[in-house]
Amino acid sequence: MPDLSGKVAIVTGCASGIGAATVRRLRADGAEVLGTDLDVARGQALCDEVGARFAVQDVSDRALWPHIVGQAVEAFGRLDILVNNAGMVSGAGIGDLDDEAMFAAWDKVLSVNLTGTMAGCRAAIAAMRTNPGGAKGAIVNIASTTAIAPLPTDVGYSASKGAVRVLSKSVATWCAQHGLAIRCNTVIPGATMTGILAAAEVQTPGLIAAVAKTSPLNRLADPSETAAAIAFLASDECPFMTGAEMLVDGAAMAIHPGF
Ligand SMILES: NC(=O)c1ccc[n+]([C@@H]2O[C@H](COP(=O)([O-])OP(=O)(O)OC[C@H]3O[C@@H](n4cnc5c(N)ncnc54)[C@H](O)[C@@H]3O)[C@@H](O)[C@H]2O)c1
Repeated sequence: MPDLSGKVAIVTGCASGIGAATVRRLRADGAEVLGTDLDVARGQALCDEVGARFAVQDVSDRALWPHIVGQAVEAFGRLDILVNNAGMVSGAGIGDLDDEAMFAAWDKVLSVNLTGTMAGCRAAIAAMRTNPGGAKGAIVNIASTTAIAPLPTDVGYSASKGAVRVLSKSVATWCAQHGLAIRCNTVIPGATMTGILAAAEVQTPGLIAAVAKTSPLNRLADPSETAAAIAFLASDECPFMTGAEMLVDGAAMAIHPGF
């Protein structure tokens, strides 16, 4: 297990699924954690259970981001890790809705999944630059295999996750070119049994059974399996990994469709 003792992390979307598993994992690995979420009751309960701090946050509220980062620095003295995990689906294909509903759904999912992630990177880098001992840190952004093989039933979600992959590489290379030891990598989960998949199942009945079959392992991931990859990229175990991507998809993207 990576040793994260002495490190301070922010995990967004901590109330559920991969975010909750990541808070548990980073705490188990020794990090101090500030978890954030829109869902105050579940987010606070999870953080209380594992000895993390909690703050309510809508990641798409860009003005709030410096205050969230400030809370972590005020509480723990530094910021080493940001996991941009909060995300949502929009549930509409390109021609499924009228203009008003389509653009409302598009704007919403882009503001949370993409702009929220970008705003988090910006605020975290500003704090990591001032870390005692010098600019150092690790950002892990969460994309999706829909960024590789998109859902026809959700153009906004798929496009936002595709953009997150490129965003991470741009952030990683900017930090490197500016001489900052701040790494930025992307974890690309496949189908993972969490709330977001349950929500997608409501919009697309049969989705869970269908996506389980896309992995040669013939099952969904447990969120703890995704959290393990996040903890590795967040740790000092991989100093030459930046601008990189880690698939946690049970080889779903590794096999020709139909086999
Ligand atoms: N579950 C999967 O199959 C799967 C696959 C690929 C990628 N992902 C990605 O993993 C990440 C975590 O998703 P999950 O599967 O754990 O889903 P989840 O629904 O269980 O958890 C998402 C959390 O994000 C929070 N959230 C949503 N919008 C927010 C906002 N604007 N501000 C703050 N918090 C907000 C929710 O309240 C929830 O607690 C997402 O980015 C998702 O796109 C999930």
